[in-house]
Amino acid sequence: MSNRVRKAVFPAGGLGTRFLPATKVIPKEMLALVDKPIIQYGVEEALASGIEHIILVTGRGKSAMEDHFDLSYELDATLERRGKKELLEVSRKVAHMARVSYVRQKEPLGLGHAVLCAKDLVGDEPFAVILPDDVIDAATPCLKQMIDVFNDKQGSVLATMTIDGPGISAYGVLAGSADKSNPRIYNCTGMVEKPKLEDAPSNQAIIGRYVLTPRVFELLETTKPGAGGEIQLTDGILALLKEEKVFGYSFEGKRFDAGDKFGMLQATVEFALKRPEFAEKFRNYLKGVVC
Ligand code: G1P
Repeated sequence: MSNRVRKAVFPAGGLGTRFLPATKVIPKEMLALVDKPIIQYGVEEALASGIEHIILVTGRGKSAMEDHFDLSYELDATLERRGKKELLEVSRKVAHMARVSYVRQKEPLGLGHAVLCAKDLVGDEPFAVILPDDVIDAATPCLKQMIDVFNDKQGSVLATMTIDGPGISAYGVLAGSADKSNPRIYNCTGMVEKPKLEDAPSNQAIIGRYVLTPRVFELLETTKPGAGGEIQLTDGILALLKEEKVFGYSFEGKRFDAGDKFGMLQATVEFALKRPEFAEKFRNYLKGVVC
């Protein structure tokens, strides 16, 4: 068994109902944040973290993602004929950026079930999970930070962020205490999926980055539907916690929920302001519209 984290699973079979009507035909993972589909941000983060193999768990109507990471002969031939070298480079780079495998989740039975669909492609080795809706801006890629913790602690790692107040009920929530070696690391003692505010065991919300040991697959096979009637990844990891150490990790960086309309607006503004070709022009524009 390889103990290196080489593979990243992207659950991308969801219906994207939070972003209707844009997602009626277009997969939410293909919505553009500035000029790249949100799935590409996650894939780039994974590659920058040392991941070698991307596993996309897709579903009906999601084939645009497969086309995106493939060669586009007509487009590339046209760009070549027109002498558009830079654009050709952009198109080809996406097609060659990663080794990507696809597996279909036939029924929307929940996030835990989506991850389980990747079992055969992952095999018996630790792996990462990236929820593509969660786009993270960080100096060191969030997943890289987590893999470092995994290598150090030799236990599964879940990314967390502090959410105070009722917003916590939209997340899995971690119970645990800060590690003596590093206050960003939590020794996990429990977790609850989407608790009521009064039942939340802490203000540490689990966000969409995980490094997990392969034992979780066997446990997910027997995980019963939980919150929302779905097979929850949180419940599978809770079962893992009975057998192995699990850590929370309050990552350094800023997370945007790009699967949500308001979150996408926030991400658009902040990512555009970071792009050298737009920054000044866009800042001046914003100043003009916000009085
Ligand atoms: C999923 C997980 C939840 C986690 C959240 C992070 O929920 O089930 O534990 O906190 O992602 O974005 P979802 O947003 O798919 O309902």
